[in-house]
Amino acid sequence: MTVGVPTETAPGEKRVALVPESARLISGRGLRVLVQSGAGAPAGYPDDAYKDADAEIIPDLNGLLSRSDVVLKVVGPHDGGSGDQSEVIAFREGGALISFLFPLSNLETVRRLVDRRITAFAMELMPRIARAQSMDALSSMSTVAGYRAALLAAAALPKFFPMLMTAAGTLPPARVFVIGAGVAGLQAIATCKRLGAVVHAFDVRPAVKQQVESLGAKFVDMGLSAEEAEDASGYAKEVSADTHVRELDVIAKHLPKADVVITTALVPGKRAPVLLTADTVKLLPEGSVIVDLAAMNGGNCELTEPGKTVRHSGVTIIGPVDIPSSMAPHASRMYSKNITEFLLHIVKEGEWALDMEDEIVRGPLVTHEGRIMNEPTRLALERGDS
Ligand code: NAI
Repeated sequence: MTVGVPTETAPGEKRVALVPESARLISGRGLRVLVQSGAGAPAGYPDDAYKDADAEIIPDLNGLLSRSDVVLKVVGPHDGGSGDQSEVIAFREGGALISFLFPLSNLETVRRLVDRRITAFAMELMPRIARAQSMDALSSMSTVAGYRAALLAAAALPKFFPMLMTAAGTLPPARVFVIGAGVAGLQAIATCKRLGAVVHAFDVRPAVKQQVESLGAKFVDMGLSAEEAEDASGYAKEVSADTHVRELDVIAKHLPKADVVITTALVPGKRAPVLLTADTVKLLPEGSVIVDLAAMNGGNCELTEPGKTVRHSGVTIIGPVDIPSSMAPHASRMYSKNITEFLLHIVKEGEWALDMEDEIVRGPLVTHEGRIMNEPTRLALERGDS
């Protein structure tokens, strides 16, 4: 079986799906690895490092795709804005693709994958279960985002993060309020604590209290029960309108004392909940900073502009959308580990080993043998959504 790693084509994308270390591991399992020339360079992995890892360097995309049984990518096939889907068309018919895919937002790509009978797996649909932890690429990217959010906030705040006792007097530590204590939120808390800030964190799920406290932060509890806040699989669910009003109140009480707010609240499959309104932003002190990690899902702050830094009422609001790409060497390494673990889970001794009863296989599977295997995507296509 031949595994192909093309250069990412999404604008500004610097990550690569496979780093040399993983290429060596895959080659060692009897798979041939092809890497498009220059694919790893933006992430700091030159062609020579892949050659040393027993991969073959292929000069052009079409040459690589035509020889690959399975293509590993970070961002799913991209039409470069032209809508021509040429990347999918160049895939070998009946081959396989593993990448982030977000099928509901890329229905035309899904149609093309079905036409080409490509078996496509979406890494973002990996179930967040213990057995699949090492394949959980969303968590990897959120870890990167949470860390960087803390640094973006620290760089934009015109104050120190740690308490400083100097000959010129004692300066108090920055006060950080993290909203949403999932993967990104916990990493933001840990990083802000390392920088010496005093951190409070809020989440609707009471289950995270212990994790927040174990990082040395204070948990702001609004007293919801697990049933009110979580679905059966432990994910946050959308709160009722009443609870949302109470939640905005709890958050508003913490804003006048916060120098930094980092928002990461997410309910899977939904638009990000709005937790900072134009009015409540005014409660923050002059000079304070909001980093809204939910910027690309609509934003947890009403005033966030995705990909931009804006100022309102003396508050700097940062809406980053491409943090993992901005930390490409390590983000690629983590993604590469995740995708390699997944590949080695579904390929044994150089042959496909697709156990359709296994949720690790079934969860991320979007298209297979000319059929749509992901139910929400199938329904969207039947409705004729675009
Ligand atoms: P997660 O699912 O692990 O955590 C989200 C947390 O939000 C959960 O703990 C959940 O209980 C909480 N939450 C949900 N509704 C809430 C509400 N109404 N009030 C308070 N808390 C609420 O998600 P993860 O992986 O940590 O991702 C967080 C965000 O970071 C997502 O929006 C994701 O898209 C974004 N992200 C952004 C990147 C960027 O470059 N900007 C890169 C990677 C992730």
